[in-house]
Amino acid sequence: MATYDLVVIGTGPGGYVCAVRAAQLGMKVAVVEKNATLGGTCLNVGCMPSKALLHASEMFEEAAHSFAKMGVSVSMPKLDLPAMMNFKQQGIDGNVKGVEFLMKKNKIDVLKGAGRILGAGKVEVSGNGKTETVETKNIVIATGSDIARLKGIEIDEKRVVSSTGALSLAKVPEKMLIIGAGVIGLELGSVWRRLGSEVMVVEFLDRILPGMDGEVAKQFQRMLEKQGFAFKLGSKVTGVDTSGKMLKVSVEPAAGGAAETLETDVVLVCIGRVPYTEGLGLKEAGVALDNRGRVQIDSHFATSVKGVYAIGDVVAGPMLAHKAEDEGVACAEIIAGKAGHVNYDVIPGVVYTTPEVSSVGKTEEELKQAGVAYTSGKFPFTANGRSKVNQTTDGFVKILADAKTDRVLGVHIIGREAGEMIHEACVLMEFGGSAEDLARTCHAHPTRSEAVKEAALAVGKRAIHM
Ligand code: FAD
Ligand code: NAI
Repeated sequence: MATYDLVVIGTGPGGYVCAVRAAQLGMKVAVVEKNATLGGTCLNVGCMPSKALLHASEMFEEAAHSFAKMGVSVSMPKLDLPAMMNFKQQGIDGNVKGVEFLMKKNKIDVLKGAGRILGAGKVEVSGNGKTETVETKNIVIATGSDIARLKGIEIDEKRVVSSTGALSLAKVPEKMLIIGAGVIGLELGSVWRRLGSEVMVVEFLDRILPGMDGEVAKQFQRMLEKQGFAFKLGSKVTGVDTSGKMLKVSVEPAAGGAAETLETDVVLVCIGRVPYTEGLGLKEAGVALDNRGRVQIDSHFATSVKGVYAIGDVVAGPMLAHKAEDEGVACAEIIAGKAGHVNYDVIPGVVYTTPEVSSVGKTEEELKQAGVAYTSGKFPFTANGRSKVNQTTDGFVKILADAKTDRVLGVHIIGREAGEMIHEACVLMEFGGSAEDLARTCHAHPTRSEAVKEAALAVGKRAIHM
């Protein structure tokens, strides 16, 4: 029987990164994966394919609508959807191969099949018609998450799709109705709107992107509406009739009231994700779950069973790939007897639309609710030189700092490249920096990042270009 120091179940960004770090620290490691390819949700049906389609569809829209004003004259671009899907697949394949390479390089055994925990130190792997049991000192559960479903609405991944189906539609739907104005709805809605779909988003709450700063969300909604998105906020979908050529969707006010019927070609259900623990044998092994079905862990990723740990989407916290990766590293370090740590106060979030939205730390709503006195500095891209010459002036940078100490508590950016720009704020916050520190840091000219420095100056009411 094969024996290991560590067996990681799941090879998403949490699992494979944990395995690599453990191997670097000298452990004999195996990963177990039930999917045909490594990389988990993120590489196969999540972050990566969605970003490939976001990039390609953005280029398509730019070629159609933005080139001419810069004096670049091209004939109207034509969509070759199979070629675009092939571009997406090449990106996935490249990244999956990258993970396979990392497993080989770090001498990590890849056990193909479904993993099941038989108890502390024992994992059963079943796949390709055979079952084997491996012994290990430690187990990390990194089995990720699955789509949340709406009662009574069956996902066929053709006309009623989850994000997985929406990443592989065979043709551009004339009409797409999206249930949920969260990250997936706005990103994949952007892809299909750019390619020609009429997009309507039905959201239960009275705002989009819950959890993001309210002012940012409000401005973002206006920008998306200008692009052609339609929103039905404070509304819920109660059923989808699939019997006809068009889907008939029943929508009601969230608070109750008269229902209306909307016709559409495709419905995308994206109302969140749920932890995935099916078939892992957790109950029999004695691994406790919390009241939302997530694997319960302590501050060292330890579950209720000694030697069994859990990380990533399957535990509490934001369901983000970089959060899973950082937990993977910290967990491996803790197992190796080192001081692994994740700073949950500094985990950035990015929505990869046009413009992008990025955020780290507290929102104004959270600070108000916690009764923290704060000052705010805001700088619009309309006053940023580089944005002006490129004619991409939508959005702003907002910095929230402690009123007494000036320590930066939150940064929120809406604008082109916001996802890249957020990281200087992350480093600053990791070091407990102040708005004054940021304001005194020299920023290259002309860059969009100068707007971050100006927003920091605005905290002290001394922005130069405004
Ligand atoms: P996963 O990536 O879900 O991996 C879990 C793996 O475990 C899977 O491969 C699964 O097959 C395997 N597994 C499960 N059970 C077993 C078992 N019993 N035996 C063996 N193997 C098993 N996050 C971002 O940060 N940025 C983004 O841009 C982003 N975009 C996204 C877009 C979409 C459409 C979706 C759906 C998600 C996106 N996410 C994004 C979220 C991101 O994909 C997840 O947060 C991340 O994948 C979680 O990593 P994980 O390692 O915890 O689990
Ligand atoms: P989400 O949690 O971001 O948004 C779900 C939305 O659906 C919310 O606005 C919620 O109020 C709404 N909703 C819930 N029930 C509803 C109902 N019955 N009717 C109408 N609206 C309803 O979840 P989403 O978009 O499915 O994404 C899942 C996860 O994937 C997220 O946690 C996110 O972190 C991750 N992800 C991250 C990305 C990124 O980092 N760029 C991209 C895509 C996904």
